[in-house]
Amino acid sequence: MQKILKQVENKKIFDVLIIGSGAAGNSLALQLPKTMSVGLISKTELHEGSTYYAQGGISAVLSKIDSINQHVEDTMEAGAGLCKEDIVKAVAKDSKAIIEWLLEQGVKFTKNESGSSDKLHLTKEGGHTHPRIVHAADKTGEAIQDSLINKVKKQSNIELFTHHVAIDLITKKSKDSAQKKCVGSYILNKKNNQINIFKAKFVVLATGGANKVYLYTSNPDTSSGDGIAMAYRAGCDIANMEFMQFHPTCLFHHKAKSFLISESLRGEGGKLLLPNGDSFMHKYDSRGVLAPRDIVARAIDSEMKINGFDYVLLDISHKKSSFIKKRFPNIYKKCLEFNIDITKTAMPVVPATHYTCGGINIDINARTNIKNLYAIGEVAHSGLHGANRMASNSLLECIFFSKKVLEDIKKYKNEKHEDIRNLLENNKDKKVSEEVIIKHSWKEIRTLMWNYVGIVRTNERLLKAKIRISIFKREVEESFDKNIISSDLIELRNLIYIAEIIITSALTRRESRGLHYNLDYPKINDKAEDTIINIGVKNNIKLYQEK
Ligand code: FAD
Ligand code: SIN
Repeated sequence: MQKILKQVENKKIFDVLIIGSGAAGNSLALQLPKTMSVGLISKTELHEGSTYYAQGGISAVLSKIDSINQHVEDTMEAGAGLCKEDIVKAVAKDSKAIIEWLLEQGVKFTKNESGSSDKLHLTKEGGHTHPRIVHAADKTGEAIQDSLINKVKKQSNIELFTHHVAIDLITKKSKDSAQKKCVGSYILNKKNNQINIFKAKFVVLATGGANKVYLYTSNPDTSSGDGIAMAYRAGCDIANMEFMQFHPTCLFHHKAKSFLISESLRGEGGKLLLPNGDSFMHKYDSRGVLAPRDIVARAIDSEMKINGFDYVLLDISHKKSSFIKKRFPNIYKKCLEFNIDITKTAMPVVPATHYTCGGINIDINARTNIKNLYAIGEVAHSGLHGANRMASNSLLECIFFSKKVLEDIKKYKNEKHEDIRNLLENNKDKKVSEEVIIKHSWKEIRTLMWNYVGIVRTNERLLKAKIRISIFKREVEESFDKNIISSDLIELRNLIYIAEIIITSALTRRESRGLHYNLDYPKINDKAEDTIINIGVKNNIKLYQEK
């Protein structure tokens, strides 16, 4: 990319450039000192991203019967040996303060029933031994985004750029160390298709997950892994990308686009049944429908494959109709649009990709291995989730690490802007790539990932997928050089990089652990190790070629 750029003027200069306006990006923007200039970039509308669709809630240790130790233990148990204990402890310890901060921002969480009580209602979800989930009915994400965005819009040091897409990071060699330094990003303005340089002392990637690389996902279209792909191309370490989480229960309906049915519905008594009405989860785990997600998703996948079912059933109709309508207004309303009245009947559900447990490797301060480049939220791998994220720990992580970036940036008060050559992409001599080619490749890649790199994997399928993806990669890089860079082309390129990273990571792990299940290596290794992929280091590729 940088080779083909031509010289023009810089457009924007900030102290901090935040790419992504979900829970992670917005909470950081709000906390940064008002003396700092902040650029906040969003690919579409400001609210759009996974955060807005979060249903279940945020886990926090608030109840007397609960403890930080128990939250840590549950998270580590779900994470199957790969959680970093110091991170888990720090996040669980901070959970109460995080909820208090959100309340200060005006988030209206659901309170306990008894009229006089101002205590927050806590629900249960998979893997949690105690009721620990703070929520705003079944629209927690919307409540958070509404409050944070309301405040972000009023803060004069924050400049907002909606419908702007980050293409790549700009890095240069550091004067004082061998480490590269991030000094900005190339940003496409979707409204006029111009590419600008946004220069900053500190760049923060908060671009969310990569779940759109699969055909069926609970995620919105923004989750195309852009931040992970950009960081990988810039030389960041990318960790544990084989651990893609499938949510067990998305609505099965041809018009529903994988609408999520929250795990909290099972937390409030929802039952999982086969289409003939038989229950089955007790065969797989003593915790039944509230076992961690990897177990429930694999159990459903297995029952569907063995019996040839298209779906299983999730039933809460035994509960009072008034309770269901009040506790799950969003799910009730959405299902009714598809003629499913959940107060009277069970809903058909299937698993779909939901959460990217791996990502850009960060330390406790959210620093990446590139200087002045941070990553927070779903785009990052902090070590909190290990091989399988426990429900409702993700929003917590977004806010925890936004606080960490703030603390870290404060240490570098004297940081200066770097001189960078004023380079800008010139789109003039290029032709427009055909939309039909982009759309077709998109669908092929997502279908390939669904069929070959899904819930249950084999070496043969992974290797076949690797070969196919390498062909797409050659084509897209060629297209990127020759054609006008559009938002769709940027996403397609990123999806291909993400597919390559997931497959390489999956081939590197020679065991089954947490969310990664390979029939050729069904056992778990004694030693739990992270998979680290770096564009400059090819060792991991050697590992599976040697076999
Ligand atoms: P997001 O909220 O996804 O925001 C990403 C931002 O980055 C967006 O603004 C997007 O426009 C921007 N962006 C992306 N690429 C670019 C680019 N190239 N250039 C510019 N901008 C870009 N977690 C929980 O803890 N509890 C829950 O109850 C829960 N429920 C969920 C329900 C659903 C349906 C889904 C999909 C997820 C749920 N999760 C839940 C997970 C959680 O919502 C996400 O992990 C979390 O919100 C991620 O926040 P984020 O800020 O990292 O990213
Ligand atoms: C849900 O409500 O089931 C999603 C919770 C999560 O992903 O953390």
